[in-house]
Amino acid sequence: MSISPRPPIPSFLPENAPFTLEQRAWLDGLFAGLFGLQGGVTPLSKQDVTRLLPDLIDAPNEMSEDVDDGAPWHDPAMPLADRMKLAEGRPLPRRMMAAMAQQDCSQCGYNCKDYADALFAKKEKRLNLCVPGGKDTARALKQLYQELEIGAPKADAAPVPAVSAPGRSRDNPVEATFLSRRRLNKDGSNKETWHIEFDLAECGLTYEVGDSFGVFPSNDPALADAVIEALAAPPDFPIGGRTLRDVLIDGVTLSPAPDMLFQLISYLTGGERRQKAKALAEGHDPDGDAATLDVLAALQKFPGIRPDPEAFIEALDVLQPRVYSISSSLKCNPGRVSLTVDAVRYQIDNRTRLGVASTFLAGRVQPGDQIRVYVQKAQHFALPADPNKPIIMIGPGTGIAPFRAFLQERQATGAPGPNWLYFGHQRSDFDFFYEDELKEMRRSGHLTRLTLAWSRDGDEKIYVQHRMRDDGRDIWAWIERGAHIYVCGDALRMAKDVERALIDIVAAHGKRSAEDAARYVEDLKRNDRYQTDVY
Ligand SMILES: Cc1cc2nc3c(=O)[nH]c(=O)nc-3n(C[C@H](O)[C@H](O)[C@H](O)COP(=O)(O)OP(=O)(O)OC[C@H]3O[C@@H](n4cnc5c(N)ncnc54)[C@H](O)[C@@H]3O)c2cc1C
Ligand SMILES: NC(=O)c1ccc[n+]([C@@H]2O[C@H](COP(=O)([O-])OP(=O)(O)OC[C@H]3O[C@@H](n4cnc5c(N)ncnc54)[C@H](OP(=O)(O)O)[C@@H]3O)[C@@H](O)[C@H]2O)c1
Repeated sequence: MSISPRPPIPSFLPENAPFTLEQRAWLDGLFAGLFGLQGGVTPLSKQDVTRLLPDLIDAPNEMSEDVDDGAPWHDPAMPLADRMKLAEGRPLPRRMMAAMAQQDCSQCGYNCKDYADALFAKKEKRLNLCVPGGKDTARALKQLYQELEIGAPKADAAPVPAVSAPGRSRDNPVEATFLSRRRLNKDGSNKETWHIEFDLAECGLTYEVGDSFGVFPSNDPALADAVIEALAAPPDFPIGGRTLRDVLIDGVTLSPAPDMLFQLISYLTGGERRQKAKALAEGHDPDGDAATLDVLAALQKFPGIRPDPEAFIEALDVLQPRVYSISSSLKCNPGRVSLTVDAVRYQIDNRTRLGVASTFLAGRVQPGDQIRVYVQKAQHFALPADPNKPIIMIGPGTGIAPFRAFLQERQATGAPGPNWLYFGHQRSDFDFFYEDELKEMRRSGHLTRLTLAWSRDGDEKIYVQHRMRDDGRDIWAWIERGAHIYVCGDALRMAKDVERALIDIVAAHGKRSAEDAARYVEDLKRNDRYQTDVY
């Protein structure tokens, strides 16, 4: 049977409208959604386009920023209010994208742009998928979503991931066996970072270096028990065929208390307490403690409320998976994957708060346990196709993870290109992750250069970007030889500072003005020669 080609989608735009093919396709999708595309269409006049999209027609460059992932408001280090201000007056999907906290971290299962487009098209209803943005992003999206409610229903404007193959997305995880963990810091370190291994042989999951690994965690049972005690509810209270305790352990998030919980509390209390609960549900902070209120702290703030356990569970958010950069190559570790995980623990009011997934991997999961996992394909984070190309990898702390994988892969494939790694952490005696492996690679010559930056060895903070500046002439020489540059780790501070250092190096050693140097680095990004995996 032959399949006839799909008829071309008719365009709403006049042929001479000043848009690229990509912009044209996006706008046609938008208009199709706005007007409900049934069949034939009458092209809009230029006046129509001008009226409908003043921003775009007058400033086509802004449109390319909208389509490009380098949208100016889309900066993980920028506070939400500033991002929203920058995106003011933009089309609704762009403003939704601006509400998201990290550029394409992929934890929601989409790119930020695709998540925004899916919400706009009403193909995705979950407003709380942005893990790094947490409650603030969810609130902003909720507000923006209300604009949609008053508009016409949108259709077909956005790509929504089709149901993926097993283990290829958060919506279709598979089970893998947890094998082991090994602490990477020596006793005496301020940090707690773990090398984690899973066996993939049974589930048959494969991955490429540069990909991330999604893990469905469960909450600390002791925290679930404390919540049950605060509720004064029976742990075996039945909820959807499971017990309240089980649902609290692996069904819902016990971290930031969601607005819905405060709303529920406001119905169950009166007077000043009701006003406070209502204010918290609306995103206000009447007592200055809103940021510290996880689910248990919220219940303790309003002691004595006795919500129906089912209504209580309904008010909580679903527990989300977390992703980790893969720190192994399948070619060196057949049937296995490893991760490099920093355990998040911090103290608030005499209680240690636990990052759910990192402490699950760091302690609660046991060898032999079956865990739901998936591979999150990397977008624009991969080794150069040409194995001869030099690579410069900048990965302090857990940022080393994908670079261990890159080095293993280039070793297994005999890639002749030179490899330069910048690693840094607090103290050389305690926090030198994979020290033996890296030193052996350095000795064998596989690691052409290894540059280390220890921030707490001496009086002066030495960070990777300080070492980069010292090496500016050589970095520039590698760039001129076609080097690809990679950055992984902390998005908020390190990644920005490293980019600044690189721009300064290009300016100083490439003999360019500051502006031209910034443009040069933008070009490296556009050509996939400057890639980041930051969180
Ligand atoms: C693409 C990608 C790759 C990643 N790769 C890695 C990796 O290789 N290794 C790695 O360790 N992580 C990595 N992460 C981060 C990881 O996904 C999780 O976000 C991290 O482990 C924390 O998750 P959690 O569930 O343990 O903590 P959560 O329960 O999500 O808690 C974390 C939250 O706790 C709060 N918090 C943390 N510390 C404090 C504090 N001191 N005071 C007050 N509040 C605080 C913050 O709100 C923070 O967002 C990656 C993230 C992405 C997006
Ligand atoms: N999104 C999340 O939920 C999440 C979860 C876990 C971790 N993270 C982030 O991921 C990062 C990774 O943590 P990690 O354990 O790998 O180590 P890290 O905290 O990033 O520290 C690694 C090294 O980087 C140094 N550093 C600090 N500021 C820097 C800067 N501006 N430029 C360059 N280096 C800098 C640190 O020095 P000093 O410590 O001496 O300053 C340390 O030597 C953390 O910063 C954290 O913010 C995010």
